Amino acid sequence: MIAIYPGSFDPITNGHLDLIQRGSRMFDRLIVSILRNDAKQALFSVEERMEMLREVLHVYPNVDVDSFDGLLVDHASAQHATVLLRGIRAISDYEYELQMALMNRRLAPDIETVFMMASETYSFISSRMVKEVFSLGGSISGLVPPVVETRLSARLAKSKSHRGM
Ligand code: PNS
Repeated sequence: MIAIYPGSFDPITNGHLDLIQRGSRMFDRLIVSILRNDAKQALFSVEERMEMLREVLHVYPNVDVDSFDGLLVDHASAQHATVLLRGIRAISDYEYELQMALMNRRLAPDIETVFMMASETYSFISSRMVKEVFSLGGSISGLVPPVVETRLSARLAKSKSHRGM
């Protein structure tokens, strides 16, 4: 069974990683797919995000990384995936996830959305908050893989030098 784990991954957090580990045990193949045509302003380019994902995920032989444009269900069909994997943290995630799952089911009735819960250790982490805390000088140790921390430091140093700080 092939599953797609779609998202922005800007950047990958330990919450995403926890879910990928669980998914890799559950499915024969898991494809982590980054949305390309995202309206949201991203910190990292799709290529940078793919590099970070590949670096962290190369230890899982049945996990691949790719990117997609357009509808998620079209990408899933093209990859012969029958499952969309999504993580749910708190109840606040539920409404958006329900809407998305039902819309995807309407578009492609043969593709099933499967929700999984990350470990409670990570249930409060979001990429947005990691970026905010880091940019304001707070510690994000243990919240993201080391490669992400290194890339965030480099990005922050670059933006400070651009601003002459
Ligand atoms: O990490 P995110 O930002 O919550 O991921 C959202 C994502 C990429 C899964 C969602 O925006 C998506 O699937 N976009 C592709 C467009 C699409 O298929 N839309 C219809 C279903 S809502």
